[in-house]
Amino acid sequence: MSELAGKRALVTGASSGIGAAVARELAARGASLVLTARREQLLAEVAEACRATGAAVETIVADLGTADGAARLWAAASARPVDICINNAGFGYFRAFRDADVRRDAELLQLNVTSLVEISRRFVEARGDDAGRAYLVNVASIGAYQSVPNFAVYAASKAFVRNFTEALHDELRGSPISATCICPGGTRTEFHGAAGAGNYGWLANKTMMTAEAVAKITIRAMEKGKRTVIPGVMNKLSCWSVRLVPRRFASWMAGRVLGKPRREALPTRTSAAS
Ligand SMILES: NC(=O)c1ccc[n+]([C@@H]2O[C@H](COP(=O)([O-])OP(=O)(O)OC[C@H]3O[C@@H](n4cnc5c(N)ncnc54)[C@H](OP(=O)(O)O)[C@@H]3O)[C@@H](O)[C@H]2O)c1
Repeated sequence: MSELAGKRALVTGASSGIGAAVARELAARGASLVLTARREQLLAEVAEACRATGAAVETIVADLGTADGAARLWAAASARPVDICINNAGFGYFRAFRDADVRRDAELLQLNVTSLVEISRRFVEARGDDAGRAYLVNVASIGAYQSVPNFAVYAASKAFVRNFTEALHDELRGSPISATCICPGGTRTEFHGAAGAGNYGWLANKTMMTAEAVAKITIRAMEKGKRTVIPGVMNKLSCWSVRLVPRRFASWMAGRVLGKPRREALPTRTSAAS
């Protein structure tokens, strides 16, 4: 029997990609789920797939790209204790900074940074030291390891998530709560289309992982209370090797691997610019 059986898990960004795969993985281990995202229909489909394995599942439609989104979500989700909190929702915006729509950048920071911090705070505050084992997971990116041209705001948001979560992990050492940062590399999800990206070089395409593989690694890392985990050997190698080269070179290399933004590939699915 998994030690996650009977725990109640909140998963943000559960309507697709890594979040949906994490939800299925938690359901398979006997956790009950609170799944959230904006797209109600997709969320319902993920919930149904999780229920098929016997899990109890609630869904909450919430937009975390808005100033009060995290507070509303927490109010709805925390009627009963949350034991596992997975801050996975996030999006990228692949554009030169001066061509970027300022509203999309503001929404990105709200979702990837501000809402993630607020949910982390509410989760940690709600868990007293005698409330039993609890797990916080924040999803960053290998983009957290260097600056990334044309992903300037996104990569910086993920550097924030990494530094924030690692500091939290250290603060919480010795308490029943662990904080784990997951830094996926390229993963086959809707992320790339939603970012207006995908015109990648050979290496980026070759090293893409599946959402299921990333989800399995995420849950294993969480159970072990790891500090930071980078899924995939090539991704680990790339994050490790940036320590050996000048920061300017690492940034240039990241730009080369991602290719140029395509004018016709407009980012989709943000709330700000509809
Ligand atoms: N795929 C990659 O290559 C990759 C690499 C490194 C890190 N990551 C990170 O992994 C995480 C998951 O991304 P993914 O690859 O699984 O992409 P995805 O399939 O596009 O999933 C993103 C999730 O975030 C939700 N979301 C987006 N905007 C939201 C908003 N305003 N409010 C609430 N939820 C919102 C989406 O749901 P709705 O649209 O239904 O709201 C969706 O469920 C993100 O944090 C991303 O930065 C991805």
